[in-house]
Amino acid sequence: MIIIGLMSGTSADGVDVAICEINGQPGAITATLLHGATFQYAPALRQRILKCCDPTESSVEEIAALNVDLAAVFADSALEIIQQAGLTAEQIDLVGSHGQTLWHNVTASGEVSASFQVVEASVIAERTGITTVSNFRARDIAAGGQGAPLTSYVDWLLLRHPEHWRAIQNIGGMGNVTFLPPLADDTSDPIAFDTGPGNALLDIAAAQLTDGAWTYDHDGQLARQGRVNEEWLDELLSHPYYSRGYPKTTGRETFGTAAALRLLSEAREHGLDGNEIIATLTALTATNIADAYNRFAPAPVQEVILGGGGRHNPVIVGMLRELLAPARVLIHEDIGMNSDFKEALVFAILAHETWEGRPATLPALTGALKPTVLGQITPGDNYAALLRQTWTS
Ligand SMILES: Nc1ncnc2c1ncn2[C@@H]1O[C@H](COP(=O)(O)OP(=O)(O)O)[C@@H](O)[C@H]1O
Ligand SMILES: [Mg+2]
Repeated sequence: MIIIGLMSGTSADGVDVAICEINGQPGAITATLLHGATFQYAPALRQRILKCCDPTESSVEEIAALNVDLAAVFADSALEIIQQAGLTAEQIDLVGSHGQTLWHNVTASGEVSASFQVVEASVIAERTGITTVSNFRARDIAAGGQGAPLTSYVDWLLLRHPEHWRAIQNIGGMGNVTFLPPLADDTSDPIAFDTGPGNALLDIAAAQLTDGAWTYDHDGQLARQGRVNEEWLDELLSHPYYSRGYPKTTGRETFGTAAALRLLSEAREHGLDGNEIIATLTALTATNIADAYNRFAPAPVQEVILGGGGRHNPVIVGMLRELLAPARVLIHEDIGMNSDFKEALVFAILAHETWEGRPATLPALTGALKPTVLGQITPGDNYAALLRQTWTS
């Protein structure tokens, strides 16, 4: 099937769009990225998204409007990439849309009671004519899971090493890891959880300290000019999230704009200057990842595969190499997968599995009581033809 994956993460930087060819079934699934592009959000749209993630700043009215307006951006991005690839919408079988998380409700005991993604699938199906699978997290949560990380199932399907344990580390707005047992080991389960803040705190700090001129610390330029304040770093690392056992997930509710602004004023009270703040928050990202491995990796990890925008930050990557040694730190490209469009590809694969009626989670990964078929299907113009094609194949 030809499937478009649409992903917008907690960084709210833009929508990643991937046209993929997905065939086969677990054990022999093939997933090829045919074409990928990121459509950056206009600054005003990004501000609207970040505002809607904050209950004290937004309203039901604003969230309702964002749900359809952002869906129009997703749909138009899909149409644009179809054109870029020299295809037509009729050649696309499905869209798999993650949407935009506004709220991931973690209870005091660490369970997830709700995870709320906007981006109205009806708008995508209406504008593109393509049957759209969306709202992937809700079913796993209904089955007692965290509803995240969802990429880990695809890591499990596609990225196990024949002989050694691998950690697949995404560094988006939040960080998340999948510890994968080797293919040769058919008794160990994989483990997955959110490691903590990836770029989210850093992005807000960079924007504040450059008066909005930068939306992130490009290539770690600010962090390079500052020294890590070890005392403040230790304080930051005492946040209870890091020592909590898995399964566990987090989001902007805990490590978003409000937290970043609080930390900035705390840092100023400690007498830190702007670059020291960025350097220390950069160290927080690398160190919370390394600490999570020390605490929770079920076996020595020989290889770490980085993905997500944070892998473009050389200061984060340099610190990780040091902290995770002797593990080899690689990127997805080193094992044959594009890093930039991995998550968009994942949602194309998850949409494929939903269409085929197959579960796309493992209880070991999300903590659910059982694996479930994820998402909701919104029929597009191609729906009846797609059903006929599936029945006869
Ligand atoms: N060249 C770069 N230097 C430093 N950070 C970068 C660079 N490119 C991307 N990033 C970081 O990656 C983030 C986007 O990562 P992404 O994987 O898209 O996250 P999400 O999945 O949360 O949207 C940006 O907000 C920024 O913090
Ligand atoms: Mg992004």
